[in-house]
Amino acid sequence: MCGIVGYIGPRNATPIILDGLKRLEYRGYDSAGIAVLTARGVELRREVGKLHRLQTLVENEPLEGNLGIGHTRWATHGAPSRRNAHPHLSENGKVVVVHNGIVENFLVLRDELAAEGAQFRSETDSEVIAHLIERFLSRDTGLVEAVRQTLRLLKGSNAVVVMSALEPDKIVTARLGNAGGIVLGFGEGEMLVASDLPAILEHTRRVAFLEPRQMAVVQRDGVEVFTLEGEKVALKPTVAPWDPVAAEKGEYRHFMQKEIHEQVRGLADTIAGRVDFETGRVYLDTLNLTAETAQRIRKIFITACGTAYHAGLVGKILIERIARVPVEVMVASEFRYADPLVGPDDVVLAISQSGETADTLAAMEEGRSKGAMLWSIVNAIGSQAMRIADGYISMQVGPEIGVASTKAYTAPLVDLYMLAVLLGDLCGVLPEGERRRLVNDLRLVPDLVGRVLEREDEAVAVAKKLKDIDNCLYLGRGINMPTAYEGALKLKEISYIHAEGYPAGEMKHGPIALLDEDTPVIAIAIQDPWYEKMLSQVKQAKARGAPVIAVATDGDELIPPVADAVLWVPPTPWLLSPVVTVVPLQMLAYHIAAMRGLDVDQPRNLAKSVTVE
Ligand code: AGP
Repeated sequence: MCGIVGYIGPRNATPIILDGLKRLEYRGYDSAGIAVLTARGVELRREVGKLHRLQTLVENEPLEGNLGIGHTRWATHGAPSRRNAHPHLSENGKVVVVHNGIVENFLVLRDELAAEGAQFRSETDSEVIAHLIERFLSRDTGLVEAVRQTLRLLKGSNAVVVMSALEPDKIVTARLGNAGGIVLGFGEGEMLVASDLPAILEHTRRVAFLEPRQMAVVQRDGVEVFTLEGEKVALKPTVAPWDPVAAEKGEYRHFMQKEIHEQVRGLADTIAGRVDFETGRVYLDTLNLTAETAQRIRKIFITACGTAYHAGLVGKILIERIARVPVEVMVASEFRYADPLVGPDDVVLAISQSGETADTLAAMEEGRSKGAMLWSIVNAIGSQAMRIADGYISMQVGPEIGVASTKAYTAPLVDLYMLAVLLGDLCGVLPEGERRRLVNDLRLVPDLVGRVLEREDEAVAVAKKLKDIDNCLYLGRGINMPTAYEGALKLKEISYIHAEGYPAGEMKHGPIALLDEDTPVIAIAIQDPWYEKMLSQVKQAKARGAPVIAVATDGDELIPPVADAVLWVPPTPWLLSPVVTVVPLQMLAYHIAAMRGLDVDQPRNLAKSVTVE
């Protein structure tokens, strides 16, 4: 996952930046680079692979200067290569950019620039940012204004850091959404900029974080912060803790909250290098899947526990709808005792954040013993579920510390969507136009999630209303039925409130008897193919006196009159909607538990990795 470090001050920027990038290595990356303003002008060093290769390159071709920026990159647009590695230069080489996130409208922007004669050196979306800044600079605008005007053109959640040989007294940085934060470090006569706190703690503990849609002009002796609209913002630096684990929490109170917010970046990294937006194709190389194998598959058995199982339920809908391959989803603890009808033309697909869950591994063994092909979707690199599988997809979201799984839920949803598209393509059941549309929709996901995260206040307000309840019901239908299960699981495991997720259509067959004014109903009623049904369900709950909290799509006018509160989400292609609708429910559960003063990251009786049956 991408990392950023920048320095301006009296010292040589090079070792400070390389050391900072080293401290971000845990996030994962496939190439790295650094730009320093030396006596010869802006100089770049970029290398594929691990950081030590970049360090060797810099030892052989040293860089010395007081201003520089560096980056570790997970490929999103274009393969890992020197020319695609950051930093990127503008055409005249005077503007240098590093970037985290996805510029959603980069194809449009690149085509416009190309029509004006721009020549591109890389396949990245990031390079258009450098070109645009140069264009605005050439119109007699200063760097700060050129960056601001450029940022206004970008769609998506992005973090950007810019320097220029034309204005060597500053670094300009901005955070456009939640694709990664920007932390500013205040030293003695020097300033640092980074994507994550550990990168700068060696040099200063006085730090401040940018909010979404803020930009900072960073100079040796301080910083000025503005909104993208140009309004000045007062910044309050705080003192970060030395404890490296606490430091990793950054601006957040708990790991769970941090991990909820990391989903934008995690989802961008999940898509990174696996889809080609221009051809509309998916590449899941570690799955080792050929067309011949894909066409042989009779059935896929998804097996997992808890949150991962809920991801599997969404996966069934995605794979069956998109690839037309039959899927059965089984709780892993039941799998081996059910004597499932698994054979050599079947796949057992395990989903596991830890990759070490005993029941999930046992289900894989059961599949193996029956001759099935084994696949896994796993977060922990090198874990058992990854090692024993014939093919795997790694989640790319970085370590998840909070026991309640959040980013390791949304990432596999996107992995399953990509798998469905790949299978549909290899099996020849997905027309090209449809495939391109499905792949194109993926580009929207990080920003859609970012837009929900910006509404954390709405979840806080609902949490205040619900924090003292004893019971509640989560209702959903279709592809968002598993979202109801997952919302309920999140609440019960960290707040100890009894919560049930239920298919809304089943209410009339029993659970409706539970409803009264003390049993709130949380209904996922977004604009998807099940909307009308959910609307009527909400009305029925309301008629029984239950307080209703609806997750609804922006602009919906029918829901507010029948709900007591609404958690709004932006319009989302329905096959991807579970990635978005779960986010307000994660925030709701988090804030209820935090308001109840509970140990959010380590709830009672639970372990992050369940290695016993
Ligand atoms: C999720 O919030 C839970 N802590 C739990 O249900 C978890 O998803 C389950 O134990 C599976 O773990 P795994 O993904 O590591 O296999």
